[in-house]
Amino acid sequence: MNSGMGVRPVPRRTEVGSGGRRTGRLRVAPTRRLVLARSGAAVRRACDGWRRAGDPIAFVPTMGAIHEGHQELMRRARSSAGRLVVSVFVNPLQFGPNEDFRRYPRPRARDRRLIAAAGADLLWEPRVTDVYPAGDSTRVRVAGLDEVLEGASRPGHFAGVTTVVLKLLNVVQPDVLWLGQKDAQQARLIEQMVEDLFLPVRVRRGPTVREPDGLARSSRNAYLDTEARRQAVALSLGLSEARRALERGERSAAALRRIVRNVWKRYPRVREDYVAVVDASSLQPVSSVRRRVLVAVAARVGPARLIDNFEWGAR
Ligand code: PAJ
Repeated sequence: MNSGMGVRPVPRRTEVGSGGRRTGRLRVAPTRRLVLARSGAAVRRACDGWRRAGDPIAFVPTMGAIHEGHQELMRRARSSAGRLVVSVFVNPLQFGPNEDFRRYPRPRARDRRLIAAAGADLLWEPRVTDVYPAGDSTRVRVAGLDEVLEGASRPGHFAGVTTVVLKLLNVVQPDVLWLGQKDAQQARLIEQMVEDLFLPVRVRRGPTVREPDGLARSSRNAYLDTEARRQAVALSLGLSEARRALERGERSAAALRRIVRNVWKRYPRVREDYVAVVDASSLQPVSSVRRRVLVAVAARVGPARLIDNFEWGAR
C-alpha cells in the first residue's frame, strides 16, 4: 500500500465517565481522539504502537452509511479490547455490474461523527487505489459457502467480501474481528476463511439491531419510499412467525418456509428472492430441524433488496 495521507485527529465529544479530570461533580475522561488514516502504512504504524504497548485491538470493517446497527457493533467491539479500529470502504469488488455501487450512500462527515461517538480510536478510509493498486490480481474465495443464498443471487459478491476483509485484516492485524449477525452468511464465510488460512484473529458476532417495528437496520433501508418502508416489516414479521413455530415444536423446513410466505402474502410489494432453512454451519438446506439452523430470507421491497435471518438451536 502506498503511504499518502498520514493520520489526523477528529475532535470528539469528551466522554464522561470514571477516571480523568474533575469538573465540579462530573468526572471527564481524558479526551480520546479519533484518528483518521488514509494509507495502510499509517494504519500499520498506529496499530504497531498499540500492540507494542500491549493494547488488544478490535476491528469493525464497514462500508459506511453508519447506522445504529454499526454503532452497536462498534460499542461491543470497543468494550472487548483496549483499542477500536473501524474502516469505511465501499468495496467495488463486492458489487455486481447492475448493483448499487455508484449510488451507495457515502455521508462521510456524518459517518466520522458517529464512528467517533461510538468510541473508535482510528478510522481508516482507504481509497480504491490504496486497496486495489494497479496490478492487483489475487482473489480469495471460500468455495461452496459462497455459492448458496446470497452467493446464488449475487455471483462473485463473496469473493469481493473475503478478498477485501483479508486485505484489511492483514493491515490492521487485530486481535478480534467483529461482524454482524445481520449478514450471517458473510460472517460464516469469514469465520471459515480465518480457520482455513490460520489467521491469528478471533471472530465474534454481534446481534442484529432492529428498528422499533422489527426491520433490521441497514444502509440500504435509505432506498425505501414510504410505502416500501411500511411493507419492509414483512421480512422480520415472517421470521418471527417462523421462530414462534419452532418454539411450539415445528421441525419441518417446508412448514417454516410456508409460514414466512403466508405472512408475505399480505405485503404485495415484497417480492421473494429466497426463504431458506439451512444448516448454520454448512449453509446447506435441511428438510427438518435437528441441529442449529439459519433461517434466512431475501426479498425486493420496492427499490431495495433486503435480507434478514435468525439462528435457532444448539450448536
Ligand atoms: P456493512 O454493510 O457496512 O456492514 C458492516 C458490519 O456491520 C457487518 O459486519 C454487518 O453485518 C454489520 N451490520 C450491518 N447492519 C447491522 C445490524 N442491523 N445489526 C448488527 N450488525 C449490523 O458488511 C459489510 O459492510 C461489508 O461486506 C464489509 C464486511 C465491510 C466488507 O466490505
